Amino acid sequence: MTRRAILIHPDPRLRKVVPAIETVDAEVRKLADDMLETMYDAPGIGLAAPQIGVMGRVFVMDCDRDAPGEHPTVCINPKITWTSDARVTGEEGCLSIPDYYAEVERFEKIRLAFTDLDGAAHEEEYDGQWAICAQHELDHLDGKLFIDYLSAMRRTMVTQKMKKLKKERARG
Ligand code: NI
Repeated sequence: MTRRAILIHPDPRLRKVVPAIETVDAEVRKLADDMLETMYDAPGIGLAAPQIGVMGRVFVMDCDRDAPGEHPTVCINPKITWTSDARVTGEEGCLSIPDYYAEVERFEKIRLAFTDLDGAAHEEEYDGQWAICAQHELDHLDGKLFIDYLSAMRRTMVTQKMKKLKKERARG
């Protein structure tokens, strides 16, 4: 497993609608392993392929804070098949937008269809943090970030802050 560099907003690769994974092969399994290692190391509870510059519809998540590392979930070509009428508002962050958190409204429960690393089809119902995380990660595959749900003014403010952070990091 290799830890990969996480892209920081703004980056054009974080704004693309990325294509489906055609076949679940060794390359995809390696990618998922790397993504999990990168996510746990960050540490974070979710990571989407475009965040490490890979243009394919896959994300990983593990929202079990009591037993980190025990429920690694890999979702290939995920699609929401059902959403609850109820919505919840929770604080979100993103590994591509370090040290910034904001309240975002999401569906309280969703059903998610996806393919796993063995190429098997799944449909799972998620609630709580898992549901929020899955919606956040799925957005990444469509070039959408959680700050898109905020006002234009706050989004501009965050983007300026991230540009400054990237400059500082580039200087070392
Ligand atoms: Ni994110």
